[in-house]
Amino acid sequence: MLDQNVAPPAPPSPSARPMSRFMRRKPVERLVAETGQGSGGQLRRSLTMWQLTMISIGATLGTGIFVVLGEAVPKAGPAVTIAFVIAGLTALFSALSYAELAGTIPASGSSYSYSYATLGELVAWVCGLCLILEYGVSVAAVAVGWGEYLNELLDGTIGVTIPAALSAPPGEGGLFNLPAMLVVVLAMGFLLGGARESARVNTIMVVVKVGALLLFCAVAFTGIRAGNYDPFMPLGMAGVSAAGASLFFSYIGFDAASTAGEEAKNPQRDLPRAIMLSLLIVTVLYVLVAAAAVGATPWQHFEGSEAALAGVMKDVTGHSFWAVILAAGAVIAIASVVLAVLYGQTRILFAMSRDGLVPKVFSKVNPRTGTPRANTVLVGAFCGVLAAAVPLGQLADATSIGTLFAFALVNIAVIVLRRNRPEMPRTFRVPLSPVLPLIGLGLCVWMMTRLPMITWMVFVGWMVAGLMFYFVYGQRRSRLATEPTTTTEK
Ligand code: ALA
Repeated sequence: MLDQNVAPPAPPSPSARPMSRFMRRKPVERLVAETGQGSGGQLRRSLTMWQLTMISIGATLGTGIFVVLGEAVPKAGPAVTIAFVIAGLTALFSALSYAELAGTIPASGSSYSYSYATLGELVAWVCGLCLILEYGVSVAAVAVGWGEYLNELLDGTIGVTIPAALSAPPGEGGLFNLPAMLVVVLAMGFLLGGARESARVNTIMVVVKVGALLLFCAVAFTGIRAGNYDPFMPLGMAGVSAAGASLFFSYIGFDAASTAGEEAKNPQRDLPRAIMLSLLIVTVLYVLVAAAAVGATPWQHFEGSEAALAGVMKDVTGHSFWAVILAAGAVIAIASVVLAVLYGQTRILFAMSRDGLVPKVFSKVNPRTGTPRANTVLVGAFCGVLAAAVPLGQLADATSIGTLFAFALVNIAVIVLRRNRPEMPRTFRVPLSPVLPLIGLGLCVWMMTRLPMITWMVFVGWMVAGLMFYFVYGQRRSRLATEPTTTTEK
């Protein structure tokens, strides 16, 4: 099956032509040669390995630990710590594959570009659609979580909260979610200023949020009672795996550095390191925070708590001051996820536009800032409206299914590229390939089967709409169709 892709394309017979159109692959050399080039200028290479790691941590650490943890504890009890490890392992196998491909194909399109080089244009398009769920829709989901912590902070400091009519979407007792929209607009403003400037702001926010979580651990550890860990697994392994599936959301984003391939100073060396390092740091933090939280507060107390970590702080110290500090940390933490993920979405669309699959406006670079400005405004407007109008749960599930599908494709892409292009220089290699990528693939598929039917229906609807767009627009305007490659790529 794979070998069909290896052979240099023979002149297609008329009946074979439409199929080969969808299977056309973008040579890795062409992908790399085009990096940085937009339709009106060049992206700037300004990001260091430290900043790339911060982009990945920035995109990862947020709503999952500050909000979703509170929903997972009632399912798993103190064994929520194990649930974090299970979700982290699922992410780890795919992270290895991301690291190998990011070091080999340092383009900005992340898994979209990897699929284009290995599995063909149609699969790459499907992957791009998944990435819009992983990035564009998750910006909206995370922005909604931000609004919840902002209310907690306002309540704790000035005793005022934003009324439900202005802080909840229709269907959940509101007209629209103003704070969620606001944080997206703020992030968009930073991104318009430039990648390096946004990366600096992101780094500061990451330092603050890691600091807030370490502070939480330090305070919560003083309140640990051994009895709170007993029974450790009150709802059995089924509860732990259900919690693991919801906590997978908290790992989404470690791949964000791979959307910065064209703005990294030394992408081949730094991208794999940034991806693996960020995953390691967030996993250790998650397990520490979870262990401290369930050790300090009986697990039954988490039922129905929205700002779970702030509640634990209040329980342990007896003062709302610490809860307010934590809520402030969460507001900054979650804002940095919005910033980093919004950045990722603009760069993925940039790569898709350069390939001709979406309109050219997405790859227009502003010569002064070296950023895709029109793209940033359009993506910001789309995410802002989504954040204002749709409830968090539905957004989070749509994000998970899209992400898992994209991860599954990345695991396949590693195996295909090893087979098709074994000679390519790789700065990082997945150990024991194809075994580990296959395990990664299996875990992604298994996690997808655990998502609700409604999520699958939304996913299928989105795919059908996206494929219709491809057949009407993308496949005709694809640059591979209008400017066929002249390289002799295998
Ligand atoms: N992992 C990101 C978060 O938890 C999406 O906010």
